[in-house]
Amino acid sequence: MTTTVTPISAQTDIGARENGLIDELTDELHATMEGEMTEGGSPARLVRLLMPDGTRQVLKLQVEMPGAVDGHDLESFRVKLRQIDKVRADAPALGEMYTEKLREFHGWDWSAYTMPYYPNEDIAACIRGPQPRVEEFFDRFDVTMSVLAERGWSLAESHAEPGQISEIHSDRLTRRFWLLQEHLAGEFTEQGRIVVNGVPCRHPLEIARLLKERPELTRHVDATRLHFPAHGDLNTRNLLITGKSGGRPAVRIIDPRGTLKNWDVVYDWGKVLFSLTVWDAGLREGFEIGVEKSAGAPTAVAVRQRGGIYPGYRAAVARLVEAIENHAQLAPLVAEDPGWKSRLLLGHAFHLLAEAACRLSDIKKRESEKGAVDLSPIELSTGHYLFGVLFLEDAVAQLERRGEIDPESHLALLDA
Ligand SMILES: Nc1ncnc2c1ncn2[C@@H]1O[C@H](COP(=O)(O)OP(=O)(O)O)[C@@H](O)[C@H]1O
Ligand SMILES: [Mg+2]
Repeated sequence: MTTTVTPISAQTDIGARENGLIDELTDELHATMEGEMTEGGSPARLVRLLMPDGTRQVLKLQVEMPGAVDGHDLESFRVKLRQIDKVRADAPALGEMYTEKLREFHGWDWSAYTMPYYPNEDIAACIRGPQPRVEEFFDRFDVTMSVLAERGWSLAESHAEPGQISEIHSDRLTRRFWLLQEHLAGEFTEQGRIVVNGVPCRHPLEIARLLKERPELTRHVDATRLHFPAHGDLNTRNLLITGKSGGRPAVRIIDPRGTLKNWDVVYDWGKVLFSLTVWDAGLREGFEIGVEKSAGAPTAVAVRQRGGIYPGYRAAVARLVEAIENHAQLAPLVAEDPGWKSRLLLGHAFHLLAEAACRLSDIKKRESEKGAVDLSPIELSTGHYLFGVLFLEDAVAQLERRGEIDPESHLALLDA
């Protein structure tokens, strides 16, 4: 498939508006703008500032954007600020590893905040290169999860009502589907079935409907308990490694979701998994998408990240579920939650589809690691969508067949 760089309507004006606000706020802070930071997963703009005293700060700005999906809108951005306050107030021991917030700025259709700049690399940087250091990744993961569990998630616990999967995931997919239909190729979103990487897949809306109509498929997979909302958007770019402390990695956790209610920790673990399987390398490299057509047959499509999955990411994916299961601080959080593994994998599939919609409301300029090529939001969205269709099909087929999802065979879908 050829990739066209299609600007999503109304984005150009917003870009100019953002630039104006960034200039104004930079002036107000008597700072100098050093550069834009484009690693994020939301449409917010981030710039690094040099302050008059020689220190560095980050300014993060969100302007209300027509067509932004829920979670990428101004309202959610403002709740992020309240969640940072809540974590600092109610989980103070998490403070030294958590993002600080220095100042807030608000207009009627925009908000912004500043925080210190933390020189860092993300938690997965050590497994990206040609010589991936997988042990180091799990050391970083261990420290991060221990801190989040001990000083965050375990601070509050409440009973969860059944029906969460349907409510959180299926409904969100159905609600956002129009955006995918509007921008992605009709051959992927319109017809009943497509074959992705050799697997015949049902339409995601058909699966969302099935999960609603047959609650017994997921009743035993639903969360039984919710915990303190320490994060909610735990992708690997929100987990910064800032150096070493006492021989172990020093961590700074940034950019919480914007949720103040107790939360399913397994949703967060699913975001770590999703970062490694598809998201992070997908955003860096783009996707190769090849369509085969034969008259009368369903569309067959092959999808992978350009150049394939990073070997270090594949190795980490293979160990991640077991690392969670055997983790001294994580295991107790799901001790009486027998469906957590299936929920992790089902949530992972839904994260991929949710991300497909998010990519369409992302206006940031993204550069491929391989060259200064702009990656099209359509390509990024289509790649996530197709992987989401594939993983959701297999997850739900396994639930129908055997009542649970086996991590090894499910994640082997990455090896097609
Ligand atoms: N305070 C900070 N110090 C250093 N890097 C940061 C800081 N805040 C953000 N970043 C970098 O910018 C990226 C995007 O920031 P983030 O707040 O996660 O935005 P988004 O909501 O778009 O995901 C992060 O993944 C990280 O690489
Ligand atoms: Mg982020």
